[in-house]
Amino acid sequence: MLSPSSGWGLGCLWLRQLRVWAGAGRWACGTCQARPYSSSRGERWPESEAEVPPPGPARRTLKEWTLLVSPFGRLWSRLPCHLAVRPLDPLTYPDGDRVLVALCSVEGGALGLDSLQVEYDETLQEMAIVSDTIDPRASVEVNAPLKFDLNIKSSGSGYVKVENIECDNCKIETEQGTCVLQSVKSQNLHVQTKGGKVICLGTVYGNTDIHASDKSIVMVDKLQGSSVNISTEDGLLRAKYLYTESSLLSSAAGDITLGSVHGNITLQSKMGNITVDSSSGCLKASTHQGAIDVYVSQLGKVELGSHKGSVIIKVPSSLQAHLQLSGKEVDVNSEVHVQEMAEARKDDGVTITGLMNQASKNEKWIKADAPKGTVSFRRQSWFQSLKLQN
Ligand SMILES: *[C@@H]1O[C@H](CO)[C@@H](O)[C@H](O)[C@H]1NC(C)=O
Ligand SMILES: *[C@@H]1O[C@H](CO)[C@@H](O)[C@H](O)[C@H]1NC(C)=O
Ligand SMILES: *[C@@H]1O[C@H](CO)[C@@H](O)[C@H](O)[C@H]1NC(C)=O
Repeated sequence: MLSPSSGWGLGCLWLRQLRVWAGAGRWACGTCQARPYSSSRGERWPESEAEVPPPGPARRTLKEWTLLVSPFGRLWSRLPCHLAVRPLDPLTYPDGDRVLVALCSVEGGALGLDSLQVEYDETLQEMAIVSDTIDPRASVEVNAPLKFDLNIKSSGSGYVKVENIECDNCKIETEQGTCVLQSVKSQNLHVQTKGGKVICLGTVYGNTDIHASDKSIVMVDKLQGSSVNISTEDGLLRAKYLYTESSLLSSAAGDITLGSVHGNITLQSKMGNITVDSSSGCLKASTHQGAIDVYVSQLGKVELGSHKGSVIIKVPSSLQAHLQLSGKEVDVNSEVHVQEMAEARKDDGVTITGLMNQASKNEKWIKADAPKGTVSFRRQSWFQSLKLQN
């Protein structure tokens, strides 16, 4: 899984995809321009899972619309095909009062293209793009004012991509299609998919709620918002950076794999493993079957529990913490200097308590509980943790 030179992966793939788009040549409509995406720094995150569905073979613009709209309206779309939303070019449209729509399709085959309705309702300030029967291989490209609300629902395999939009409310639902959000800012962002992937590229800002059912995975580059909730069922939940006041990340059977997380974070999984490369803030993680592996860089309260698995905690040697570690076995590495260490054995397990670096007893603590497994407590330098992350 680790391939140090592969890059964050999403970026590479995206570039690859863009090449497909750009190379298609007939993808000619002004609104259909694929801009290169500058990827994040190279890291260990694998790319295979993040595959963005390619728009397919050669495409061309079949029809275009330009509508005069309020610059603060919203887009309402119900489509069984692909949809991409980007901001208008501010140089060409300094008033931001247009919506450009282009219908692109594969050459030949596409059916039902006439069924596409494109309308603007002035009273509602709502731009509607609707079709029940359009060919799923078609794609609709929208350039909207920068600050535009979105209410998007795609059916079937229709994927949705939203790029560089700012909105008060942004609601996106897909069935099997992938949803890609790139640099979106929203007061309230809701994303739901029944079987597609959810991929957040660049920084996504705002209170965010992402639900992915079935085997859907969620991959996040950087998410920043006071409240963040993400859930998956069987799929992986991966976030590289998370800055939040409070977030709840949960999965039934998927692994939860996080990079650097800041704030009050609760992680719950039934069957999956939970990994955090670096946590600063309060962290509560629990899993029934899985294992937990966490590096605590800066302490809030940390509470880790695995009913059937093991727990690994890594800390920098300077960390101040009160420890309470219970497990079938507890292994405190001798490199860690623990004061007032006490060991209590009971039936089937052991509890070790102690202090690191004169922590005051009630403020900062790390509790871990693995009644059927081992709790391992180790020292790891920040530098080592960084190396592992990269
Ligand atoms: C996240 O979940 C919590 C608790 O269920 C809820 O209070 C909060 O409003 C949710 N946040 C978002 C952005 O949906
Ligand atoms: C975490 O929650 C505590 C209260 O539970 C709150 O005082 C603190 O400000 C929160 N941290 C962040 C980063 O919001
Ligand atoms: C979960 O962690 C355990 C113990 O580290 C490991 O054996 C297992 O392969 C992991 N499972 C997955 C799905 O990564």
